[in-house]
Amino acid sequence: MFSYRDNSVLNILGIESSCDETAASVVQDGNVLSNIVASQLIHQQYGGVVPEFAARAHQTNIVPTVTAALAQAGIEKHALHAVGFTQGPGLLGPLLVGSCFAKSLAFALGIPLIGVHHIQAHVLGNFIEDPKPSFPFLCLTVSGGHTQILLVKNYFCMEVLGETQDDAVGEAFDKIAKLMGFSYPGGALIDQYAKGGNTKAFSFSKANMPNFDFSFSGIKTAFSLFIQQKQTSFIEENRADICASIQALLVDMLLDKLVQAAQKTGIRSIALAGGVAANSHLRQQLQALSGRHGWTISIPSMVYCTDNAAMVAITAYYKYQFGHFSDLSTRCFPRMEL
Ligand code: KG4
Ligand code: ZN
Repeated sequence: MFSYRDNSVLNILGIESSCDETAASVVQDGNVLSNIVASQLIHQQYGGVVPEFAARAHQTNIVPTVTAALAQAGIEKHALHAVGFTQGPGLLGPLLVGSCFAKSLAFALGIPLIGVHHIQAHVLGNFIEDPKPSFPFLCLTVSGGHTQILLVKNYFCMEVLGETQDDAVGEAFDKIAKLMGFSYPGGALIDQYAKGGNTKAFSFSKANMPNFDFSFSGIKTAFSLFIQQKQTSFIEENRADICASIQALLVDMLLDKLVQAAQKTGIRSIALAGGVAANSHLRQQLQALSGRHGWTISIPSMVYCTDNAAMVAITAYYKYQFGHFSDLSTRCFPRMEL
């Protein structure tokens, strides 16, 4: 078979389609050459992701997104050495679109297929830029579907030290934003409107969970009661203070447990991952804590926090080195253990 592949470099295409972002990225020898994300705006009018519409939008977007990623990287598809894709967890329809496309491409090009766990990819997003964290490290992994403190022993071994027992913190941000009347997903809007607000203007009680676990459903209910008791004009006039106060509470809850986990394990290498890691208050507070506790911290750039395919491609890059390939008969998994 004629091959255009240059084997002195390793080009990996990553594809992400677990939720409402169709993303593709090319990584060459661990360096990101391209990172394309097609966000689906259709869900805004429904106040949340509609799985069926998400799957259809992935079908529309996947070929243009991959084509754009190859073009931005300046390589053509025959130069690829492997295709990585998000295998789970996520929404079944969206995962099926990405996995079928990845399988077909790998099959057509005769190159390895590499299934990637979405959360593992978020964590390994910390290895896209320098300085890279050193093992072992603790990773506060915070997204729309997950809230976990992970003990990351190596690229492939991640132990869950604690996690949410109900809502994920991103879900709490989004539900609170919805109660404030913001469009979906509202987490980033809370962050934006909180700027200049007083973090101590309003107080809400926080749940006290054992060990390193979290609970966010009570806060959502307390916030809903708070909003119901207020006039619309009051909410509008105090928007910055309300957003700053609730954001600070959510961030405190995350960081309290992270400090406890760091003290218990004695680990001082700390990383952030997931969409909520884009939160400016969380990023600032972690910086402040690192000085106080002598931590070495790793915080990915914003584009590598929210869903993206560079994190999938970098994970596939590490899996490639160890020969962790997937069979073409592999399936995708809406629920998937780390
Ligand atoms: O990792 P991600 O992009 O998708 C999932 O895997 O879930 O995370 C999305 C979550 C959403 O809940 C979104 O509101 C939240 O991340 N998010 C933020 C910010 N940017 C995104 N939450 C708070 N502040 C932000 N700046
Ligand atoms: Zn994610």
